[in-house]
Amino acid sequence: MLSLRDVHLSYGSTPVLKGIDLSVRRGHAVSIIGPSGSGKSTILRCINGLIAPQRGEIHVDGIDVRAQKTDAQRIALRKRIGFVFQQYNLFPHLSVLENLTIAPMRVLGRSRAEAESDAHALLAKVRLADKARAYPGALSGGQQQRVAIARTLAMRPDLILFDEVTSALDPETVGEVLNVIGELADEGQTCVLVTHEMRFAEDISDEVFFTEGGVILEHGRAGQLFGNPSNDRTRLFLQRARGEDRAGRLPRGS
Ligand SMILES: Nc1ncnc2c1ncn2[C@@H]1O[C@H](COP(=O)(O)OP(=O)(O)OP(=O)(O)O)[C@@H](O)[C@H]1O
Ligand SMILES: [Mg+2]
Repeated sequence: MLSLRDVHLSYGSTPVLKGIDLSVRRGHAVSIIGPSGSGKSTILRCINGLIAPQRGEIHVDGIDVRAQKTDAQRIALRKRIGFVFQQYNLFPHLSVLENLTIAPMRVLGRSRAEAESDAHALLAKVRLADKARAYPGALSGGQQQRVAIARTLAMRPDLILFDEVTSALDPETVGEVLNVIGELADEGQTCVLVTHEMRFAEDISDEVFFTEGGVILEHGRAGQLFGNPSNDRTRLFLQRARGEDRAGRLPRGS
């Protein structure tokens, strides 16, 4: 479904990705973990063509991402790849229902009736069936993030990229968002997750990639990488991350 081969990217003279190899099979959930600044978000941005690496190959479902040069080609690519960010970016002046129907109607050409019936089904799926008429400002962070996930699903993407979607949430709403993502993974939605939630990554991932300094230092099945990492850097990172979990989530960067 997805493959990156020897992907290199620099910002100016600063190398950020130094030969990334990563692949994801259809129906699999893959996590990317690693320290801040190691290139995790940059990898996701390369996958959906938001930024272009200088070297390497990226294929999504047989499409050569780097060859998609026209606006039309890039839009077509992004229809197939959902991207959920830390900031939900819902339209504040539109109701939850309208947030979910606007792109399917305008971009995919769906009828209003079809888009609305789809939207109601997706809201039920993310357990917000009663919020269709609400405005984003009246929802909690966790609820807004679930709307953002439903909005992404409304485009029926082949692949969804999640970039630290729970980092900005209050601790008590993190679980409800992780549950929704976990269910999607169980249903066979192909996804790539960047997350600092180690327990979650271990539970839902088919495979885990550990990045540091723009390279993948280690990857493997979740049980193996978390249970018995072969690289000392991975081991140290996991020890620290778990220490923070136990301490009740120290502020990031502390
Ligand atoms: N637009 C940019 N211009 C220059 N440097 C950038 C730009 N975006 C990212 N970088 C640099 O690239 C490196 C990797 O950034 P990236 O955002 O991919 O890290 P990350 O692993 O997602 O970190 P975090 O866990 O903090 O989100 C960092 O050193 C960052 O400063
Ligand atoms: Mg990031």
